[in-house]
Amino acid sequence: MLKVINVVGARPNFMKVAPIVEAMKRRATEFAPLIVHTGQHYDAQMSDAFFHDLGLPKPDVYLGVGSGSHAAQTAAVMQSFEPVVLEEKPDWVLVVGDVNSTLACALVCSKLGIKVAHVEAGLRSRDRTMPEEINRILTDQLADLLLTPSQDGDANLRAEGIPDSRIRFVGNVMIDSLFNQLKRAEASTVRDDLGIANKDYAALTLHRPSNVDDAATFARILDALEQISRRLPIIFPVHPRTRARIVEFGFNKRIERAQNLRLIEPLGYIDFLRLYSGARLVLTDSGGIQEETTALSIPCLTLRENTERPITVEMGSNRIVGTDTDKITRAAFNALDAPRTNQTPPRIPPLWDGHTADRILDAITKG
Ligand code: UD1
Repeated sequence: MLKVINVVGARPNFMKVAPIVEAMKRRATEFAPLIVHTGQHYDAQMSDAFFHDLGLPKPDVYLGVGSGSHAAQTAAVMQSFEPVVLEEKPDWVLVVGDVNSTLACALVCSKLGIKVAHVEAGLRSRDRTMPEEINRILTDQLADLLLTPSQDGDANLRAEGIPDSRIRFVGNVMIDSLFNQLKRAEASTVRDDLGIANKDYAALTLHRPSNVDDAATFARILDALEQISRRLPIIFPVHPRTRARIVEFGFNKRIERAQNLRLIEPLGYIDFLRLYSGARLVLTDSGGIQEETTALSIPCLTLRENTERPITVEMGSNRIVGTDTDKITRAAFNALDAPRTNQTPPRIPPLWDGHTADRILDAITKG
């Protein structure tokens, strides 16, 4: 029986850990799972809503670290996680993704000689100005078992000198959650509530510091959104970081004038799935949403200069358009003008099949 601490910290972690914990509970003779929530995200809509929507059991331990600078947040997670590990003495600690909590917990364990499994290993944007890229590189160097969502991840790890014996290609566990919840999401009334049921609309998310913390970049993106919103409504669930910058940069008035650019509160997992799964087009700077739209073959424009998820571009659903106003607008209009139904069948990456959680558990069992 393996005792495993599953770490969650921020919004993009919950949908990765939910299917893993569910599989561990199903395989109760092999695994004794615990959930530790660092509290990096703490608002009801950024955290509790996801536990509820994904059927994730309440955390066994809540560290409550909250927000702070990267150094303060990472250090706070380390300081509060270490005593938990010392007390629980797990066989494995499982960390997911690339947020500050991921690196902090991996670092604590590697110093204590506790084995670490990293889910979503090997992704690289090659952009070290991105805090997540630092978290990815370092977590992968520290972890004992590197579980990759796509084979470009294996190649990236090998190129950094990581031996094959630590790498397992298991597929994308976030897609397990997506397939698990797709049917349930049909009951969400979010499209009716927004008055967009059976209409063409775009869905937008924006929260990368490189996009929203810089007034000039944010303004360029807004220029494009204003133009696109003249063609169809854009539904924009606003991340707290982005909400704060809109106020700070005085963008409220501009946004109010663009009547078809509709800002709403962040959505839970089910409502957001219902929203983007019916969208004509998705615009985002998120990593996970590039993958979710690929799994459902929905056209996605990524408002960044690079991606750590090149397979989404290779499959044809995702385009990297950067933050230039004309480039974004042109790409959006091209996507909207393209025929709705493609002759070729949708292309889904290998092992994005809804069964990744069990492959992760098998890999941990074999060590
Ligand atoms: C973090 C992750 C990022 C992920 C994103 C998803 C890192 C380095 N970044 O970025 O990879 O894509 O989460 O959301 O780990 N805030 C709230 N309520 C909350 C959480 C945050 O109001 O529940 C506000 C705080 O003012 C905080 C700011 O949002 O300062 C940013 O939060 P933080 O967790 O530092 O980074 P994110 O931008 O959310």
